[in-house]
Amino acid sequence: MKNVVVIGANRGLGLGFTEALLKRDCHVIATVRSALHGASLEKLAVESTLDVMQLDVADPISRQRFHRDLATRKIDTVIHNAGIYGPRGLVPGKIPEDDWMKVLHVDTVAPLMVTQGLLPQLRLSAASGNPTAIHFMTSRMGSIADNGSGGNYIYRSAKAGLNAAVRSLALDLSSDGIRVQLLHPGWVKTGMRGEQAPLSVEESVAGLLERCAELEMVDTGRFVDWFGEEIPW
Ligand SMILES: NC(=O)c1ccc[n+]([C@@H]2O[C@H](COP(=O)([O-])OP(=O)(O)OC[C@H]3O[C@@H](n4cnc5c(N)ncnc54)[C@H](OP(=O)(O)O)[C@@H]3O)[C@@H](O)[C@H]2O)c1
Repeated sequence: MKNVVVIGANRGLGLGFTEALLKRDCHVIATVRSALHGASLEKLAVESTLDVMQLDVADPISRQRFHRDLATRKIDTVIHNAGIYGPRGLVPGKIPEDDWMKVLHVDTVAPLMVTQGLLPQLRLSAASGNPTAIHFMTSRMGSIADNGSGGNYIYRSAKAGLNAAVRSLALDLSSDGIRVQLLHPGWVKTGMRGEQAPLSVEESVAGLLERCAELEMVDTGRFVDWFGEEIPW
């Protein structure tokens, strides 16, 4: 049975990943920022193949506890999904530094910090010959080449930074046999994008899990959308 960690799983795409993976006979370790937010996952907790754990990705103490509690667990796959958008519609001259730093912390730095603490288990999995992978939820908004409309300074820069760091991670982990992927989920009806988005969580997750399943070592470090289209950097 495949052991998958889903980071940021109590709603939106993270909850969708968890539900879909449980149906595919995976053992899922799903994380929630705080117990208060875990209500939707608790309904699934009757599943014997689901563990719910607390993790605030931006909190070093929470990360330390999470890494310690997982130290002896088998992990084959990590889906780093947690993310925030920050305030919208900001124009030059009106962008608050503290909001920018908060989004950079959650979207750019924290995913790498969480990943660093899981590397021993991932290396062990890869060394045992299991397909081993880390999938990061980024956004097309992080593509510099695709930016034809400006604005969105905070979210764009946070996801562009994530892309740059993950590209290096992919190259650095290739000798360990760990596959790494950057995924854009499409515009999906979640708390982040709202009801006007064209895709349902189920549609996006189905496509994303196909992309995860087809990831080979030769594709490590690629930036693709839920449908498999390569996105320019
Ligand atoms: N929806 C889209 O159209 C779209 C498009 C492009 C990229 N994405 C990316 O896809 C990912 C999931 O987005 P979504 O649409 O599902 O967003 P969402 O509905 O807003 O859910 C975001 C998830 O991230 C968690 N989270 C936020 N800050 C966290 C922290 N400090 N520690 C732990 N968990 C934290 C949230 O937990 P709480 O409930 O506790 O806040 C929630 O579970 C994000 O990385 C996002 O940038 C989404």
